[in-house]
Order: sequence, then structure tokens, then C-alpha cells
Amino acid sequence: MNIPFVDLKAGYLPLREEILRSVSGVLDTMHLYLGDNVQALEREFADYIGVRFAVGVGSGTDALFIALKAAGVQPGDEVITSPHTFFATAEAIVHAGAKPVFADINAEDFALAPDCIERAVTKKTKAVVPVHMYGQAADMDAILAVAQRYGLAVVEDACQAHGALYHDKKCGALGDAGCFSFYCTKNLGAYGEAGIITTDNPEIAGQARALRNHGHISKFEHASFGYNSRLDEMQAAILRVRLKRLDEYNAARRSRASLYTSLLKQAAVQTPAEKPGRRHVYHLYVIRSAERDRLMGFLNEQGIATGIHYRNPVHLQPACSPLGYARGSMPVTESACAEILSLPIYPELTDEHVTYVAATLNSFYSS
Ligand SMILES: Cc1ncc(COP(=O)(O)O)c(C=O)c1O
Repeated sequence: MNIPFVDLKAGYLPLREEILRSVSGVLDTMHLYLGDNVQALEREFADYIGVRFAVGVGSGTDALFIALKAAGVQPGDEVITSPHTFFATAEAIVHAGAKPVFADINAEDFALAPDCIERAVTKKTKAVVPVHMYGQAADMDAILAVAQRYGLAVVEDACQAHGALYHDKKCGALGDAGCFSFYCTKNLGAYGEAGIITTDNPEIAGQARALRNHGHISKFEHASFGYNSRLDEMQAAILRVRLKRLDEYNAARRSRASLYTSLLKQAAVQTPAEKPGRRHVYHLYVIRSAERDRLMGFLNEQGIATGIHYRNPVHLQPACSPLGYARGSMPVTESACAEILSLPIYPELTDEHVTYVAATLNSFYSS
């Protein structure tokens, strides 16, 4: 059996007619950017997350750096984030003109450890960017308490956590702003580049709206030096079709995850833990194994594609060398990076597929 890591076609085919109709509706109007579909998506996504405003932008990376700037981050500021994330989180801090400062993670949820954030705070710290890794919310009560103590803005990187809950609130509604990627493989994915910022704060929403479109505030008037990060109408139209199914997709991911966890109970791997009060949406199903690379090779030989998110921690990336972090400086992150393995998970993955992956993985340990 061949099991791909993601299967975008399997997600597209059941929606084909509806998606083609909405894309052709956009082409018929030739209103291609920031039009009716973007406005409707912003309203629908804000309602879904439970915030007052959503601002569509060109990507998750853009969402992060525009939100940071809109929240007041300036050159010379420091912004604390996790070294266990996609590189774009740190990149966005640099694009906002600030210096990324890393704090280590908790082993249980792979997200920023609040006590490590507190140790990283200096007089220059302006904001913290918690990353809701793999689809589970970070320890937000404790993170918000640290942020409040030091007067820091909180910009959530919710790029992997569409629909994830922290108690009764969704990720993206917990800090000053939330940032989402609609990269094609995400729980809510477009068929091109797209992202969105969520916030309850009208000033952040207004700033973000101007920054995404060259600082434009009214006809012929530019209030600031902004960017070209307009969300296009075709992506917004596609996202509106898929947003209606997001809860269904997340429920399917949760069901596959729970089957994996029950079938892998006996194996010498650590399965993901859903922390009390959090609803994991399993953007990724990540196990830990002391023999990760050998296990990955074995699964690959049996036709099972897997991934590593991510093999090299951000603080040790060549681009971060001027920041001066040594190996050993983020021990929890570094040991996670050596052991993590992402198994295939997507709504269209069948129980038969999950059972095959789990049986193959179990056979690795019993042989
Ligand atoms: C945690 C995290 N942050 C930021 C991003 C960047 O999003 P995008 O690829 O849409 O720019 C991603 C997506 O890959 C991500 O997973």
C-alpha cells in the first residue's frame, strides 16, 4: 500500500464543482483583489474564530510580520518566540525590524514554556509570539500572565491551528492578534498563497489593513510605507468553500489521531498528548522515537511517507548564527528535533490507511 504524506487531490475532488463555480464567478467579475469574496471571507473567518476583525493578507508569513508591526513592534525591539517552529516565525520578526529572541519549549505540547519566556525578557522586549504547534494551543493562560506582567503584546502564530480550542476560545482569539496561514496543506488551505490576521483590536485591524496595501488609507493617500500583501479573490472564494467544512475536516483529523493513538499504545514511541482544556486539531500527528531516522526509512520502504517538523531548530539555522545561540542552549527543543516524526494525517486518510501505518510501525518494533 502507498500512503502519501498529504493528498490534496482527495480533498479537492469532492468540492470540484463548487470550487470551479466560485472561481469562475470571480473571473466573470474580473474583480481580482480585495473584493466581495475577501470581505466575506474576513467576516466569516472572524465569526468562526470569535473575534471582531479579520484582515486577509498574502501568506501566513505576511500575517505575522504585518501583525507584529500593527501591534507596535519597531526596529530595535526584541520579540520572544519558540525555536521549535517553521522558520517563517523568526523571519517575520526580522521583517518587522526586530530581533528574535528564543525561549525553550515544553516537551508535552512542543510550545513555548512560560518560565523560559520570563527568563528571556529584557528591557527591549516588546512582544511574544507563541506558536500553537501541530494544531494544539500553547499554554496561553500562563503566557498571557507573563505578557501582562511585562507589558508585552501577544501575537499568536496560529498557522497550524485553525479551529483549535483553548478552553472555550479558539486559537487566534487569545492574544492581541492571531496569524493564520492558508498554505495548501494546512487544515484550511487555499490553492495558492494566502493568510489572515484576526484581532479584537480596531487599531491593529486598521493598521494591518493599511499595511497590506501599501499603507493606503483612502484614494491617493498612503499613511505609511506598507507592502503588497493583498489577498486575491480567487483564493478567498476557494477558502469560503472550504471554511464551511473546516469543523468536519478537523473532526476527521481528530478521529484518525485517536485511532493512531489507540493502535500505537504498545509501540516504543511516544504519541501526542492532548492537554486538559485544549482541543487539538492535528494539523500534524507527531510521535517521538529514539530511533527516528531508522523508523522513517523503514516506513518509507513500506510505502509510507512521513515528515519531520522540523529537523533543525530555528536558533541553530545558519541565518540565526549572528544571534549567537550555541547547540545545547535550547535542550528541550533540540532533543525533540532529534526524535520527532510526523505520520500521514488528513481528513481523507481512511481507517484502513491508519491501521496499515500503525501495524507497519508496530512491526518495526517487534522485528
Ligand atoms: C508555524 C508556522 N508559522 C508560519 C508559517 C508561514 O506560513 P506561510 O507559508 O503561509 O507563509 C507556517 C506555514 O508553513 C507555519 O507552519
